Amino acid sequence: MKNDHFYITTPIYYVNDKPHLGHAYTSVACDVIARFMRLSGKKVKFLTGTDEHGLKVEKSAKANGIEPKTFVDSVSQQFRDITTLMNISNDDFIRTTEPRHIKAAQALWKRMQQRGYIYEGKYSGWYAVRDEAYYQESELVNGKAPTGADVEWVEEPSYFFKLSAFEAPLLELYEKNQEFISPPSRRNEMLSFVKGGLKDLSISRTTFSWGIKVPGDEKHVMYVWLDALANYLSALDFDGDANSPLMTEWWPANLHMVGKDILRFHTVYWPAFLMAAELPVIHKVFAHGWWTVEGEKMSKSLGNVIAPKDLVGSYGLDQTRWFLMREVPFGSDGNFAKETLKTRINADLANNIGNLVQRTLSMVHKNCDGKVPQCDWSVFDENIQILCYDSMEQHLNRINKQQLHIECEEIIALASLANEYIDKMAPWTLKKTDPEKMQRVLYALCEMIRCIAIYLQPFMPESASKILSFLNIPLEARDFAYLTKSAALKPGAEIQVPQAVFPRIEIKSEE
Ligand code: MSP
Repeated sequence: MKNDHFYITTPIYYVNDKPHLGHAYTSVACDVIARFMRLSGKKVKFLTGTDEHGLKVEKSAKANGIEPKTFVDSVSQQFRDITTLMNISNDDFIRTTEPRHIKAAQALWKRMQQRGYIYEGKYSGWYAVRDEAYYQESELVNGKAPTGADVEWVEEPSYFFKLSAFEAPLLELYEKNQEFISPPSRRNEMLSFVKGGLKDLSISRTTFSWGIKVPGDEKHVMYVWLDALANYLSALDFDGDANSPLMTEWWPANLHMVGKDILRFHTVYWPAFLMAAELPVIHKVFAHGWWTVEGEKMSKSLGNVIAPKDLVGSYGLDQTRWFLMREVPFGSDGNFAKETLKTRINADLANNIGNLVQRTLSMVHKNCDGKVPQCDWSVFDENIQILCYDSMEQHLNRINKQQLHIECEEIIALASLANEYIDKMAPWTLKKTDPEKMQRVLYALCEMIRCIAIYLQPFMPESASKILSFLNIPLEARDFAYLTKSAALKPGAEIQVPQAVFPRIEIKSEE
């Protein structure tokens, strides 16, 4: 993998269910990071997709009275639609029923087998269909999986993966690459799981057929997690050759973004599979938290599942994206409540950024003939200049640590400083007392708006683009390389009449 490349993935979504807020959350977070990396000059591959095999999906298809393939085609399309709805800039969408994926999963199996890490046996133990996971007797809590899922007893011929051989290599990996399991608060969980001893893993099933056939033994289908994890390679057209052009260009992936519930699969099983296949191990897995809704777990039975399209329809696309990224420290759990969403949108977007843009650009239109005013760097607050032009490293650090909420806070802090500056300088008073200085002050404000809008692009691409268009910034001058004084607005250039970007949302106590 080349240094100027960045390969980022979402988990692939199970198609047993319709897309909801939790799925949109993972995808938006990855989208923000992917867009940020592109704007900072990296070549990005951003992959998402759907996980379509396994018992859970087969059962859902049956419950709907449809053939699995017809069922997965329809639900997978709904996930594709969500990426469009949420303005997700993925470069590829992988489906595990596609030939390229089946080829890659089988090639991975063969590499693991050729190196002696797969053997035949018989599995007897507990399995939770909801989690698509095996559990040991000792892990059960009141007869259920630790996640609360029902378990069933399974006894069948199975292929096993020698996971037990990877205890020491995994611990070494975690030690060498401290960021491999992020955020740090999640590291210990996985460390103690591995230190607790790893048993070999059953990686095939014979009692159902909705899966990828095991190479050379068609009675078996692959364990759905082995199948699913291989998706990260399928998108590189993996066929067993570790040195193919696409593998050389993009592997290992920089970041797998996952929810905290699937960390074990990504930080224990997946690196072990890769090591067994002698493929480079991915750089980092970051686990974000889970959303509850008005204090409750989101579930079909409670009828409180939030559909992304309802949020976007009621509050706007960028408003929804912003709320998801800004409200909850990324990595922690969060609670979704309509009141907080409205308060957040009004405070950050309508009252802060929106107000700054509206009042500054309207004044420029009224008092400067709709043209970028004259510049004088000496009236442009120096601290704000530093934040506009010399803080890229801090921005990059935050994104590299997935501190997405802090990045939002810092952009808002910059907008707040600009609003304080406008209040302090009071250009409306200067208009009468010192019209030249008013021009300089309005110039500084327009320039702050340009920089704020550039920083905002990963989070709110459409709104940021509108603001940059008010300033007539050409499309090719909107990336982070243009956060410099030499790229600053040119006095005399025309600007557009601003339109409201973030309308205020009425807060009613009852809806
Ligand atoms: N198919 C597996 C992933 C395979 S990746 C090789 C899977 N799919 S899932 O559809 O169940 O979950 C996908 C992602 O959505 C997970 O990262 C999960 O954490 C996330 N979320 C599901 N519900 C969520 C919330 N309520 N809140 C936040 N994210 C949640 O697991």
